[in-house]
Amino acid sequence: MKKILITGGAGYIGSHTIIEMIENTDWEPISADNYSNSSAVTFDRIKEITGKHVTNYVVDLCDAKDTRAIFEKNPDIAGIIHFAAFKSVPESVDKPLLYYHNNIESLVNILACAREFKVPHVIFSSSCSVYGDIEKLPVNEDTPISKAESPYGFTKQIGEQVLSDFAKITESVKTVALRYFNPVGAHRSGKIGEVPAQRPNNLVPMITQTAIGTQKEVIVFGNDYKTRDGTCIRDYVHVCDIAQAHVSALKYLDDNKTAPKFSILNLGTGNGVSVMEMVKTFEKVSGVKLNYRIGPRRPGDVVAIYSDMSLVKKTLGWSPKYTLDEMMLSAWKWEQNLKIN
Ligand code: WQD
Repeated sequence: MKKILITGGAGYIGSHTIIEMIENTDWEPISADNYSNSSAVTFDRIKEITGKHVTNYVVDLCDAKDTRAIFEKNPDIAGIIHFAAFKSVPESVDKPLLYYHNNIESLVNILACAREFKVPHVIFSSSCSVYGDIEKLPVNEDTPISKAESPYGFTKQIGEQVLSDFAKITESVKTVALRYFNPVGAHRSGKIGEVPAQRPNNLVPMITQTAIGTQKEVIVFGNDYKTRDGTCIRDYVHVCDIAQAHVSALKYLDDNKTAPKFSILNLGTGNGVSVMEMVKTFEKVSGVKLNYRIGPRRPGDVVAIYSDMSLVKKTLGWSPKYTLDEMMLSAWKWEQNLKIN
């Protein structure tokens, strides 16, 4: 039984990846999560869905000693998926030092332990935010990255550089950086999903919270962009597809002794969808008329970005399965369950 450490296991993508691992492998996931951006209840939900208890170490991964203690207690860790990071773009603009400290220090500690305890594989949670505002679309892994639009995006660019430099000094660890586009939706059970912030920054939780009455309205941040309907375009991808890709990335490193020491892969659908198309899709699948209005542009927004996912298809044999309707419907089901429970 292979033991895999999931950092940020109580988080949105981390919890979905733990479920995917339990349901589709014989691996044993363990978690390290200090609940700074999540809740212990998630592990109760994972138990309800899978019947399995997942051990979680409540550790600040910026503390080298406490991080190392996880590996001393679990010398058989055979792989790491490093999700734990702060991820709010606007918050990173207000608190850049918090983001640089948390997101970089935790990664450095994890890699130092991977090297010391000879953990052969590390998957790093990166982001399409590394691309910045790109003219030529779709973006592929060779698209030159440009100046990050936020400290959050810059921490992901720095993280990839750390992995690249780390690969040059170690033979024993191979790493893959997965660049997520826009993860949305929730597990089919409706028992786990994106834990809502007070006021969500992201579009889909804002749509579902407005539909359920928690928020008054959705403000569409600008409809005067040079796109087919004037609103920004993104590449939305179901969180369960993202979770499956993480398991596939570990399997790829397991099965391919000749895999490069460091790889970067886009995780998207290749379909660009506008904000208004998201609003209309939600209304269609939910039957709920959404209260929205057009507002000013949001600083830091890129006009459009979507992925060329041919490399991830070729490397991992992965391609997304869920449709936009299914993404929206699963997000809506999660929101409705949140209201009941
Ligand atoms: C999407 C579109 C907004 C809210 C996110 C994460 C980032 C990264 C990439 C993982 C934009 C518009 C939004 C609202 C709106 N993910 N919008 N009204 O900015 O693409 O970035 O995905 O690493 O961490 O933040 O996602 O959902 O905030 O915005 O009009 O109330 O929806 O302008 O065009 P974004 P988002």
